[in-house]
Amino acid sequence: MSDSASTVLSERGFRDALGFFATGVAIITAQVGDEKLGATVSSFNSVSLNPPLVLFSLTRTSFGIDKWKAASAFAISILDEEQISISNRFARAGGNKWSGLDVRHAGNGAPLPPGAIVHFEGRPYAVYDGGDHEIFVCEVTGYHIHHLKRQPLVFYSGKYRHLDRHDADQGPPLDNSWLHGW
Ligand SMILES: Cc1cc2nc3c(=O)[nH]c(=O)nc-3n(C[C@H](O)[C@H](O)[C@H](O)COP(=O)(O)O)c2cc1C
Repeated sequence: MSDSASTVLSERGFRDALGFFATGVAIITAQVGDEKLGATVSSFNSVSLNPPLVLFSLTRTSFGIDKWKAASAFAISILDEEQISISNRFARAGGNKWSGLDVRHAGNGAPLPPGAIVHFEGRPYAVYDGGDHEIFVCEVTGYHIHHLKRQPLVFYSGKYRHLDRHDADQGPPLDNSWLHGW
């Protein structure tokens, strides 16, 4: 395929094309009754500063999808580059993702995986139809930065990556007419 080729939409090709968008890796967690829920996602994103909103999307075939929809508190933990095994653990379908872990809890009661760079905690704000996924929008009520100096785990083109340049490159222009507050 040439650099500029476009193609008809096949599921595999679409997925591969989306993979060019590099993301971080997050673990979303919730406690519903006695059960701790957790899943690895790359679909975490910021939405709104005021009110403070973030989102993630979860496949409808997730074992716990109904429980996720019933959760009253969420936590979202952003993984660092040393946490590939935690990412894989929470990407395994079903099973006990929490066994053997030293589990702490966020202020809102949601369980936390060990060692994240930062966690956000919040409550459900809206759930939207996202085709074969459900889009969860979460109102953030707090966050905690645990490890300011650590580098994030990156997910790109179906593989885990590490940032190989730790110095900041050029940023966007500091002009509100461009950035809408960012
Ligand atoms: C790097 C990475 C990113 C993922 N991102 C998502 C995502 O955004 N949404 C999703 O539904 N599943 C995503 N998954 C797959 C889920 O983690 C996995 O299907 C889920 O944890 C399965 O468990 P469950 O069915 O028991 O909930 C991702 C997996 C990996 C390894």
